[in-house]
Amino acid sequence: MLTQRPRGMHDILPQEASLWHEIEEAARRICARYGFSEVRTPILEHTELFQRGVGENTDIVEKEMYTFNDRGGRSMTLRPEGTAGAVRAYVEHKFYGGPQPVKWFYLGPMFRYERPQAGRQRQFHQFGVEVFGVADPAVDAEVIALGLDFVEDIGLKGLRLELNSVGCSQCRPVYRERLLAYYRPLREQLCEDCQDRLERNPLRLLDCKRETCKALAQRAPRIGEALCDECRAHDEGLHRHLDAAGIAYEINPRLVRGLDYYTRTAFEVVEEGIGAQGTVLGGGRYNGLVEELGGPSVPGIGFAAGLERLILALEQRRGEGASEAGVDVFGIALGDEASVELTGWLRRLRALGCRAERGFEGKSLKAQLKAADRLGARWALILGEEERRRGVVIVKDLTGGEQRELPALELESWWKETEHGTGR
Ligand code: HAM
Repeated sequence: MLTQRPRGMHDILPQEASLWHEIEEAARRICARYGFSEVRTPILEHTELFQRGVGENTDIVEKEMYTFNDRGGRSMTLRPEGTAGAVRAYVEHKFYGGPQPVKWFYLGPMFRYERPQAGRQRQFHQFGVEVFGVADPAVDAEVIALGLDFVEDIGLKGLRLELNSVGCSQCRPVYRERLLAYYRPLREQLCEDCQDRLERNPLRLLDCKRETCKALAQRAPRIGEALCDECRAHDEGLHRHLDAAGIAYEINPRLVRGLDYYTRTAFEVVEEGIGAQGTVLGGGRYNGLVEELGGPSVPGIGFAAGLERLILALEQRRGEGASEAGVDVFGIALGDEASVELTGWLRRLRALGCRAERGFEGKSLKAQLKAADRLGARWALILGEEERRRGVVIVKDLTGGEQRELPALELESWWKETEHGTGR
């Protein structure tokens, strides 16, 4: 146990970190474009926040939360998602009193005690956004566009956007009754989980993955036919905005999402190629959540993308693991004095933005060149005792093998020209 990480949790090792940075930078870049600011909320919240926010009858609250009593006897939970904490912060800091909309994004780890498989971990990372204070479907379209711009920016083009409306507190109870009337006589044909969920949360039956349940869901009444006038108008408005933005979508009447807070718009972005856990991004509108969590009646909408699933999709498309960070210059010193001098030169080169590494412990020229090669360095700077005495350094092009001597004092201007020449 001592040398084993917890099940379903992963180390992000240095060779993978550059891909994570790329994705996080893309998230920040796209958010800046859309005028979203970052919020960082605690990883722990009071358990009640998720019970009330995510919903008592969801899988997350029923069986997936990491909950424990702290030393003061309070029940605390590792956040299973980011929306409840963002809403709590919005209410606690009274953002509803300022100008609306309030547009936030977050990046960070989430925790769910699920059965681990490809694309499903117990600790995973989300990039999420939330918009508070505007009910206009134009906001739904902006949030969806932001999500798609993000996945496309990191290199995932052509993903499927699925869309549905899950109604509101007016029309959903009516639909719920219709569903119950449809499912009750079929109870015996349902899987055990669905039998269990039937009376408490019948909408969830629509996205059960078991074949028999799927077949029954195909013939179930559709929520689209039960929407109230306002929900229908909102939905049609959103379609018009998406059409105008050139965003293709598929209406999926069985898209219900696994969290209870959604009203009206629900959407998911799906990558087929990564197996059963293909939903890389999911979200929707939650017009009742702020009030449910103790704030005024303020509408909201957002999404979260699973970073591990995006990485899985990217690796599949690129057909390889994450790329390693590059090295521009590898410094090779031969002798103690030369080694001391190299320390100074490399520090000055790094100050100019040069990615510089070096050999240590007085290894042979051959061994150090091998190390430079292993790191994929572009240039070697070789400083032997003789060069040091003459005030020169050997610059060796590690791609073409050519080498030349340079006065050591010109190293910095050499780098500036080289960097300029390579367009870095
Ligand atoms: P969610 O659908 O539960 O929604 O999660 C969003 C995304 O997080 C999923 O589409 C998936 O990519 C990733 N994800 C979820 N669970 C796991 C897991 N166990 N392992 C790996 N990835 C996972 C939410 O969390 C909502 N808070 C989204 C939202 C924001 N809705 C409105 N605002």
